Amino acid sequence: MNSVKCIGVLTSGGDAPGMNAAIRAVTRTAICRGIKVKGIYRGYEGLINDEIKEFTTEDVSNIIQRGGTILKTARSKEFMTVEGRQKAYEVMKAEGIDALVVIGGNGSITGAGLFAREHNIPCIGLPGTIDNDLYGTDTTIGYDTALNTIVECVDKIRDTATSHNRIFFVEVMGRDAGFLAQNSAIASGAEAAIIPEDDTDVDQLEKFISRGIRKTKNSSIVIVSESKKDGSGGAMHYAERVMTEYPQYEVRVSILGHLQRGGCPTAADRILASRLGQAAVDAIQEDQRNVMIGIRNDEIVYVPFSKSIKEDKPIDRKLIRVLDELSI
Ligand code: F6P
Repeated sequence: MNSVKCIGVLTSGGDAPGMNAAIRAVTRTAICRGIKVKGIYRGYEGLINDEIKEFTTEDVSNIIQRGGTILKTARSKEFMTVEGRQKAYEVMKAEGIDALVVIGGNGSITGAGLFAREHNIPCIGLPGTIDNDLYGTDTTIGYDTALNTIVECVDKIRDTATSHNRIFFVEVMGRDAGFLAQNSAIASGAEAAIIPEDDTDVDQLEKFISRGIRKTKNSSIVIVSESKKDGSGGAMHYAERVMTEYPQYEVRVSILGHLQRGGCPTAADRILASRLGQAAVDAIQEDQRNVMIGIRNDEIVYVPFSKSIKEDKPIDRKLIRVLDELSI
């Protein structure tokens, strides 16, 4: 056991359902083991500006079921500068915080990595993002909830698509990763998914049309990842193409937007966040530093920051085949 006496916890980047369960887990585990916890508000921005409060177990009561983050979140531009991180370090020292737990996505873990290296601070990351795009963990906090939210929406869109014999392009979040798109397409029985990871030399719209989708069905749902990696993409782009190239089809677009980030976390996300939060405190006590806590094959793993942010998380190609064969 090391001499860490006070842990700071913050949420950063886009909020994700389950972040509160993670804050609760870090707080309760630490207090249970005699370590103080300080909640840092508005992510790195709040660290720089000293928006910090010591937490008791009551501060995290009644939050496991709540979406969003009680700590609030931000994408801090100042923390991206050396001067900003220096200020954050000084505040941390003044507050007596010896180790930091950062709950967030790619950008937040990148920030934690830089901070830890420059100031030799133990930083532990927890993967908190609906995008599921962090390497080294099978899933991220918030992903399962967002997936279920999308499926619920697509079930509703299906009713109107069928009634009007329309093709619907439904755009989902995920940044440059197609996990939400691919898996929500499978779970909602969609006819196709257009994802950034699929072969770039194959026109995914052509693939969908040429499979003769309209021979057996009068309506279709195509889930489109929001990614515009290659300069085009998104649901509008594909809808406009169909309107021009196949004017015989009636097309509509539905962009699900930020409703995908809200709502009560699913049981799976609450359990994941609770396990990862507890493991973050284990890691600090074991003198681990600069690692993200992940879950692989239901086991807790430590993933060095350098790997979790640098390596692309591949999508399982078998999922593409599942959708292709089941959507005939
Ligand atoms: O990273 C989470 C995410 O919801 C992405 O899926 C999306 O591209 C982005 O954040 C949206 O960010 P903002 O809330 O800043 O519009």
